[in-house]
Amino acid sequence: MAGTGTAGRKYSERESRMIRRIRSIYEFISIPFVAVFLLYNRRIDPGYGLTFRKKLRLVFRMYRNTRRIETGTSYRAHVAMAAKILEIAPAVEGAIVECGAWKGGTSANLSLVADLTGRTLIVYDSFEGLPPPTEGDRWAHGLATGAFRGELEVVRDNITKGGVIEICDLRKGWFSDSLPSHEEPIVACYFDVDYQQSLHECVLHLWPHLTKSGYMFIDEYTRLDYCGLFFSERWWRDYFDRPPPGLMGAGTGVAVGHFFLGPQRDQAPIQAPNSAAYTRKDFYGAWDFFPDEEPSVRPGGGAGGATGPDGWTPTSVSIAEKAARKRARNAAKRAKDKGSE
Ligand SMILES: C[S@@+](CC[C@H](N)C(=O)[O-])C[C@H]1O[C@@H](n2cnc3c(N)ncnc32)[C@H](O)[C@@H]1O
Repeated sequence: MAGTGTAGRKYSERESRMIRRIRSIYEFISIPFVAVFLLYNRRIDPGYGLTFRKKLRLVFRMYRNTRRIETGTSYRAHVAMAAKILEIAPAVEGAIVECGAWKGGTSANLSLVADLTGRTLIVYDSFEGLPPPTEGDRWAHGLATGAFRGELEVVRDNITKGGVIEICDLRKGWFSDSLPSHEEPIVACYFDVDYQQSLHECVLHLWPHLTKSGYMFIDEYTRLDYCGLFFSERWWRDYFDRPPPGLMGAGTGVAVGHFFLGPQRDQAPIQAPNSAAYTRKDFYGAWDFFPDEEPSVRPGGGAGGATGPDGWTPTSVSIAEKAARKRARNAAKRAKDKGSE
């Protein structure tokens, strides 16, 4: 199909084919780079005994699964999730949860990570495709009802072929019926559920089960208004009485070696979003500086504190924290020098 550039210039069939080819060559040749840049990481828990060979094999299997099973997400997103899950110590109890499986392409890959880390993968889906729209849900449409239908047996087969079915628990039903009875602690969950109503249900029912530094990933990160849930002060105050956690990768996804400047509408066809976005249970994503108010209003334990009274962890190191670390290092050095005198 011929594409259209931002300025409206048509891409010929030939040009579009060439672009698709370049993209798929890039995906293939970048496998070792994805393995190095995403998984050469000392935060990966040594308890998992992952050699570089095993990491490369994992990345290759993930790539191959996304070629063999029709899927809406890229292997880069799956490797990014694997990287974060592998940082979680084996002693932290918790399952990996996926909401929205379609044909099970992502499920197969998440089952590989679950197997490596000794965890269970729980997959929630209607296995009947998208639900009818709820009024007010701006991303839902009646014409899409039943789209992305992947029957439970198809998903099971695909996981069996590309992943590890023995550690998977497939739970069928609409999220509004199935998620409220979820019980297990969760170290990481992934939502690829398209609709606002579906995302609302996933976050509402599963957030309480996330472990202290547990991860919540989403697929629809190119929709800024959808990402807005993670920055909505009203939503988080009303449902959880806390500030919003924010979202890493809102708009363009976390950086996994893909080329995508956004927005998705009218993007240059050679670019494509191939990533995921995520937040963590202890993140803090509120703007709390209002200098014109007397006194300035700040919700407790905000991003400025290393770990505030409410337990938030800032996503980058503040000047105050850097200075405190330096003072601690200098004090330790002085104590060591004194001891050796
Ligand atoms: C875009 S597909 C997921 C694609 C999949 N992650 C992949 O990698 O190929 C969206 C999925 O969400 C499911 N879904 C969306 N809303 C749902 C709801 N409220 N209850 C149950 N399943 C739902 C659909 O059945 C569908 O399988």
